[in-house]
Amino acid sequence: MRDILANESQLFIFVINLFDKLMTSVGSKKIILPVVESHDLFKRAIGQSTDIVEKEMFVIKSGESDEILALRPEMTAGCLRAYLENGLFNKPQPVILHSSGSNYRRERPQNNRYREFTQLNLEVLGSDLPVYDYFVIDSAMKLLRNLQLNDVVLSINSIGCNDCRPNFRQKLLDFLSKKKDDLCGDCQRRLSHNPLRILDCKENSCQNITQDAPSTLDNLCSACEDHFKKVIELIKLAKISYKENPKLVRGLDYYNRTVFEFNLESDNTRQGSLGGGGRYDYLATLISDQSKAAVGVALGVDRIVNALNERGFVLPDIATVALICSPEIIGETFNIYSKISDKINVRFLPSGKSISAQLSELNKNGFDFAIIIGQDELKKDRFTLKDLKNGEQNELTLDELINKFDYESKTITS
Ligand code: HAM
Repeated sequence: MRDILANESQLFIFVINLFDKLMTSVGSKKIILPVVESHDLFKRAIGQSTDIVEKEMFVIKSGESDEILALRPEMTAGCLRAYLENGLFNKPQPVILHSSGSNYRRERPQNNRYREFTQLNLEVLGSDLPVYDYFVIDSAMKLLRNLQLNDVVLSINSIGCNDCRPNFRQKLLDFLSKKKDDLCGDCQRRLSHNPLRILDCKENSCQNITQDAPSTLDNLCSACEDHFKKVIELIKLAKISYKENPKLVRGLDYYNRTVFEFNLESDNTRQGSLGGGGRYDYLATLISDQSKAAVGVALGVDRIVNALNERGFVLPDIATVALICSPEIIGETFNIYSKISDKINVRFLPSGKSISAQLSELNKNGFDFAIIIGQDELKKDRFTLKDLKNGEQNELTLDELINKFDYESKTITS
């Protein structure tokens, strides 16, 4: 777990706010979920024998009671629980919900892998239509495109349903059992309870073995094949760059049919996926007596921010704009400040010093722009904007100033 200091926290907040804006614009409603849920929810949802549940949960014994809780390692299980518990299935379906916040996994900390990390989560609950598989993928891509992460590739697969998966599982078992001794220790254990996971093991020995393994995509029933085809058609139509990857299984047991991940083109080890998700039509029956189809996606903010930093993404850091005024009009300037400060990020630094003394202080403190208000500006209702790096000056109206620095609304593209 780590501290996220001012430079980076601004980028975190920017990404989260942009996600909120974009998701609202595609018809989603924000849900704020608890960070702590019952341990049992995650055991049932994510799967008893997954790495997350077996080794990575932060489990809390709650006081004297027998109740066992856990810090959430992801948000899908909690979101579906909230949908079921609050009767959201009585509303027009599907219900589209997004959320963001910290998640916790006791992984071995390394670059891009933290024990506390922030996810952006989008879920479509109450529909099995392939268009919603496409919708969550496209919505996630919208965010990545808005952040100028254009070299992202979507890896996608279908892992079938309860009708076709048992046959595939058996075929795979027959294939892998003959090579058991050559599998890594983890995969030898997976053979008995989750042979599909062996397909996306990162160990070279296992990857060599699974090269010729039966493929999920060749073993789908006609309903799953049809579903997958429709998802792919929509992805092609939207010109999203994608790769079918029949070995993609993902580390959470609740998925069926579509599974997918987003990776940077330069990262072919899949150690650092920016996001991932899929369909989980059976999860509601595992945690309740209801059956509800659903699909969703989560993006990792820490990894997105690392990628943005590596690419030298410059947040037009609106906090580097300062508003200064001559000492006798501080009151009037406060008025102007309150008109613009909820639209753009600007620091007002009232001071008893002269404008030129204030300007040289701003220069020393690394500000990029100064909005200067003097008696003249007040009279004309036009304000001086000084670029502190090159000394250029312009007179702008309040609206023009807002438009110049309201970066977030300008970045939103469809
Ligand atoms: P996940 O693939 O486990 O899926 O996590 C989604 C994203 O969270 C990853 O692609 C990554 O960016 C980020 N992430 C995961 N673990 C870490 C970590 N230790 N450090 C930094 N970032 C991390 C899920 O969590 C599913 N709930 C996604 C989903 C939503 N499926 C359906 N709806």
